[in-house]
Order: sequence, then C-alpha cells, then structure tokens
Amino acid sequence: MNKTVLKENEKINYSIKEALKTLRTNFMFCGPDIKTVLVTSCINSEGKSTISMELAKSLAISEKKVLFIDADLRKSVMASKCTENSKKVVGLTEYLSGQANYDDVLYATQYENLSLIFAGAVPPNPVELLGSSKFKELIEKARNEYDYIIVDAAPLGMVIDASVISTVCDGSIIVITANEISYKFANEVKDQLEKSGCKVIGAVLNKVPTRSTSYYSKYYKKRSKYGDYGYGHQDKKSTRNKKFAK
Ligand SMILES: Nc1ncnc2c1ncn2[C@@H]1O[C@H](COP(=O)(O)OP(=O)(O)OP(=O)(O)O)[C@@H](O)[C@H]1O
Ligand SMILES: [Mg+2]
Repeated sequence: MNKTVLKENEKINYSIKEALKTLRTNFMFCGPDIKTVLVTSCINSEGKSTISMELAKSLAISEKKVLFIDADLRKSVMASKCTENSKKVVGLTEYLSGQANYDDVLYATQYENLSLIFAGAVPPNPVELLGSSKFKELIEKARNEYDYIIVDAAPLGMVIDASVISTVCDGSIIVITANEISYKFANEVKDQLEKSGCKVIGAVLNKVPTRSTSYYSKYYKKRSKYGDYGYGHQDKKSTRNKKFAK
C-alpha cells in the first residue's frame, strides 16, 4: 500500500485537544448506524479539514479503523498541507474518473488504524464525479473494511458538492466559525443537508475567541502561570462541539 506521513498541526493546543476528545466521545455515542460522516461548513476556512482530520486521528488512536477521504475536489490542498509528500499524488478524482484503482489511491499513515484518500487533481466536473455510482461503490467498499469513514467536503454554503456526497453518508457535522456565521446561514446549510436525506448529527463551533470572564477560563489562567497550556495558551482560538443529537 502507498504510505504517507501526516504532519502534526501546531495550532492544536491543549484546549482544542480537550474539545476534540469530547467531539470523538460524542461522535462515538451516535451509535453503530453512523459509520460514514461528512464534514462541511457554510464558507471556506472554517476549519473543516482541521477538525475532520483530527477527529479521524483521534478515532484511530482509540483503536477504531478509520478511512479519511478528502472529497474537497475543488481545492486539493490536503496532500501538500498535511503530509510530507513532495510528489503529486493520485486521489479521488483519478479513482472516480477511472484513471486509478482503489489500491492506487489508498494511503496508509503513521497511525496504524488510519488510512486516507487524497483529493487528487482538480477536475472540471466535481459534482458529476461525486454524484457518480463509483463514489457510492467506494463508500460501500470502505464500509466493509473500516469502522468509520470521515469525508472532508467543500463548504455547502458556497457549492453543492457536500449535498451530493451526503446522499451516501449516514450523518453530517457542520463546522461553524464563532461570531462570523449567522444563525440563518448555518440553518440554511442544515436544511440543505436534511433535504438531501442526511442527518445532521452535530455542529462544531470553531475558532471561539477565549474570554477571561468564565469560571473555567480563570482557572486555566491561574494554571497557565505554572505551564503554558489551556486557555492561557498564546493561541487564543478554541473549539467547542455542540448539540450532538441521536
Ligand atoms: N480552532 C482553531 N484555532 C486556530 N486555528 C484554526 C482552528 N481551526 C482551524 N484553524 C486554522 O484555520 C485555517 C483554515 O482551516 P482549514 O483548512 O481546516 O479550514 P477548511 O474549512 O478546511 O478550509 P477550506 O474551505 O479552505 O477547505 C487553517 O490555517 C487552520 O490551521
Ligand atoms: Mg479544507
């Protein structure tokens, strides 16, 4: 099998790690029917790739066999951003267009239980490729081999791709940037996913500016005197996950 090495994300500080553990726990409590999950957002750069990749790693560390699929075909940056690969990789585009086989696009990582499929080249027709029977077959095949399949998609508030992908997923997670996305916009994305027949299992409120008013932030501030972590960390962005519903 092809091999790749995933880079550590330096922005993942203590508080984000803690929130990610909660996300993993909540996700696992969604039950055995939720195996394939799509991660999307309203606009770009809300943290979909970061959250979905960290969720995949976290599940793999807890002994679950995980496949991460980069299905953001319009912006195939995962290979360059998250790995130490210097050469061009073949990925989902090549698989869906019949130019590569399953084994050609499947990559093992340094995490024993985590495999991944990169997006590959940017195609002229992402919606047709993602809506094809080949994508459905890929998910069906992966379902038999993995405990969880995490699909990172393009922002649904901007392009329709995630809605097309959601038809073959069991559930979806919406990543929402705090103080940036209106309730109305987030609700429109939720409605769109539900219209495609995909259950929204939860939302992640990301990039939450940390404040010094809450009891816990005071506690972390105190602790940060003794060690640079938690809310006292210099990276003032946090991640909280919300409303995981069955
Ligand atoms: N909780 C966070 N705290 C700080 N930085 C974050 C957080 N989440 C994501 N980021 C940063 O925000 C930027 C965008 O994140 P990411 O690439 O994961 O978003 P995306 O939604 O996948 O974007 P795109 O729509 O372009 O694919 C990256 O630089 C990432 O490191
Ligand atoms: Mg992304």
